[in-house]
Amino acid sequence: MLKGRHLIDPMDFTLEELDEIFELAGDIIDHPVKYSDSMKGKLLATLFYEPSTRTRFSFEAAMLRLGGQVIGFSEPGSSSVSKGESVADTIKTVGCYADIAVMRHPKEGAPKVASMYSEIPVINAGDGGHQHPTQTLTDLLTIKTEKGRLSDLTIGFCGDLKFGRTVHSLIKALSRYQGIKIVLISPEELMIPDYIRNEILINNNIEFKEAERIEDEIGSLDILYMTRVQKERFFNEDDYIRLKDRFILDKEKMELAHADMMVLHPLPRVNEIDYEIDEDPRAMYFKQAKYGMYARMALMLKLLGVK
Ligand code: NCD
Repeated sequence: MLKGRHLIDPMDFTLEELDEIFELAGDIIDHPVKYSDSMKGKLLATLFYEPSTRTRFSFEAAMLRLGGQVIGFSEPGSSSVSKGESVADTIKTVGCYADIAVMRHPKEGAPKVASMYSEIPVINAGDGGHQHPTQTLTDLLTIKTEKGRLSDLTIGFCGDLKFGRTVHSLIKALSRYQGIKIVLISPEELMIPDYIRNEILINNNIEFKEAERIEDEIGSLDILYMTRVQKERFFNEDDYIRLKDRFILDKEKMELAHADMMVLHPLPRVNEIDYEIDEDPRAMYFKQAKYGMYARMALMLKLLGVK
């Protein structure tokens, strides 16, 4: 039963529960009108302590398209947070008004803390460089729908693997499927954190390798997951400038890839995918953003137990 639960970490749900969400998302995609009033009278609170476009809008659009309503803040400066209110008090208060809450926070673990004090389901919409489970639902739904499977895939992750929370969450989630091979492409300074390498990849016997050039690896991939260098998590601007344009996916590199390799990106893109790639049918990142809204519609229906 997903009703009344929180989503903080990508491993919070079993594979069967994830399938339930994907199945419902698929039905919403096929029959959107059937669901247009299902959240009537329900209220979502969006608590965004960090900037967001896709995640916040897709949650808002999801709730509104289901006939529900939305309250919230997109800048902590405009809420009592600026007066020093704790996350625990904020969520207890929000729980008096709303039925479900989604929180993005620069501090790792903040949504977890909120969930411990909350009377209503809390969804983690990204906590620092840690996890981003609803982006993972989005990514899995995209892969499952477009590739027809979540097993037997070789997936390359490229860019900022150190601070990229979408990468951490997706690797965790993929580690539970069969036949997954992972290629980690990053400069040495932005390599995957040790806890992901040791606790997820090595402990689960996932086949993986670390590499430094897209062109050496792209030919073996089913999926290339590009990411932006996470500027806001750098301590020093010079490091960011030095690393930001290290990997750029362009037409030349795409020529080395399989005809059905899929390019994913959680967005926002900065420079890491050349705009000319957008026309390539293998570029899936805008469609992926759309899947994100359907994944969030399905998730909220399940957490609220709406039939
Ligand atoms: C990602 C995030 O916030 O971690 N964006 C998103 O939610 N789609 C990726 C990023 O900001 O680079």
